[in-house]
Amino acid sequence: MYTLQAIEKRRSIRQFQDKTISAQDINTLLKAAMLAPTARNCQEWEFVVIKDRIVLNALKEAHPHAQMLSTADCAIAVCADTKREWESGYWMGDCAAATQNILLAATDMGIGSVWLGVYPNEERMKKIAEVLCLPENIKPFNIIALGYPAEEKGDVDRFDPKKVHYERW
Ligand SMILES: Cc1cc2nc3c(=O)[nH]c(=O)nc-3n(C[C@H](O)[C@H](O)[C@H](O)COP(=O)(O)O)c2cc1C
Repeated sequence: MYTLQAIEKRRSIRQFQDKTISAQDINTLLKAAMLAPTARNCQEWEFVVIKDRIVLNALKEAHPHAQMLSTADCAIAVCADTKREWESGYWMGDCAAATQNILLAATDMGIGSVWLGVYPNEERMKKIAEVLCLPENIKPFNIIALGYPAEEKGDVDRFDPKKVHYERW
């Protein structure tokens, strides 16, 4: 699949088949994540891969919009080591770029995914950090639920020329 096709096909998938994603495929997703751009190339991201059903359920309880974790095969929590970010406030953009790489790579591989926001909700960050036993300097950015899709989503076209401004506003 070409990049533009993956971009067009990627949709949030919240229903999953009972089918395991191989360790090799999870590694491919993580490699894609770590090829994303970061400010000053500081690569402050950290990734927690969760396959244990007990931990997946605990994450589901800690997050108000994460019911799909009960059928997801696994999840990746995208986190950042704030001690390694270039300047304060850059880690979120860096983690978002890594996240999008995971979502697009997953689409390319026929794996469904959905981005579950954690940052900047402080209560959510605290609860997720507790479940994942994160050290103080490791901040959870989001959780990506992953699994083979059990739902199909149609194509969407969100292009809106009114949102485009040339040269000046
Ligand atoms: C920052 C962010 C937070 C999100 N949080 C959630 C969430 O908590 N639960 C969920 O089911 N989807 C979540 N989503 C997915 C959005 O609902 C989804 O991307 C949006 O509805 C557009 O649909 P699409 O991804 O299929 O194009 C989140 C997406 C982003 C970018």
